[in-house]
Amino acid sequence: MHLLIPAAGMGRRMGSDRNKLLLTLRSKPLIAWTLLAAEAASQINWIGIIAQPTDEAYLQELLAALSLTKKVQIIYGGSTRQESVYNGLQRLPDTAERVLIHDGARCLATPELLNRCAEAIMHCPGLIAAVPVKDTIKVVDKDLLIQDTPDRSQLWAAQTPQAFDVKILKNCHDEGLRQGWEVTDDAALFEKCGLPVKIVEGEETNLKITTPVDLAIAEFILAQRLDNG
Ligand code: CTP
Ligand code: MG
Repeated sequence: MHLLIPAAGMGRRMGSDRNKLLLTLRSKPLIAWTLLAAEAASQINWIGIIAQPTDEAYLQELLAALSLTKKVQIIYGGSTRQESVYNGLQRLPDTAERVLIHDGARCLATPELLNRCAEAIMHCPGLIAAVPVKDTIKVVDKDLLIQDTPDRSQLWAAQTPQAFDVKILKNCHDEGLRQGWEVTDDAALFEKCGLPVKIVEGEETNLKITTPVDLAIAEFILAQRLDNG
């Protein structure tokens, strides 16, 4: 299975002066933890890191230090996640019929979750990892007035990995470009094209490192994992 790792963001909400994926978590850069999970996931045999050209030298050095057994390619990203994934899809080898897409920022996803998604995509055109929402979610207008309270039992928080049939996902991205759709994940493109996307049970610990508090929580989760062997 081919894996694309979007890692070309700026990490603005982290408030750091560089890509948050290069920040250190338990003495390794965040992106290293994502790569190590991919290395440990037996279903994955090709990894494409989608990155900014300015981070390439750093990543090459990191890859040399990690000496992964799997083939890793660096692909240049764009100015949005959508553009970055688009670029990644163009650079997949022709043999890739299905693709797993997993955000570099979700560095706590387990190899088991990556494997589960890689196995499940053999039986459907599109899927995402997700977990039931714990908070009650409000739909709010620009004056901060609540418009709606969707029934929580129907709400799931989307994560990555997300996995798709490559040809279909490429078509969805092309349609998105034609229609000017702006989305924050690939499942949304599938949905807008009227295609089915299945849910695979994700992991509560599979948080997206977005703000400084997420870093602190990740530090804690990693510490527990490492101390428990
Ligand atoms: N990403 C990407 N290309 C972009 C923007 C984001 O590949 N142009 C990647 C990020 O590196 C991250 C994932 O998409 O692994 C999810 O994005 P997000 O958490 O929003 O990261 P950033 O965009 O870096 O953070 P922010 O939105 O706070 O600036
Ligand atoms: Mg972003």
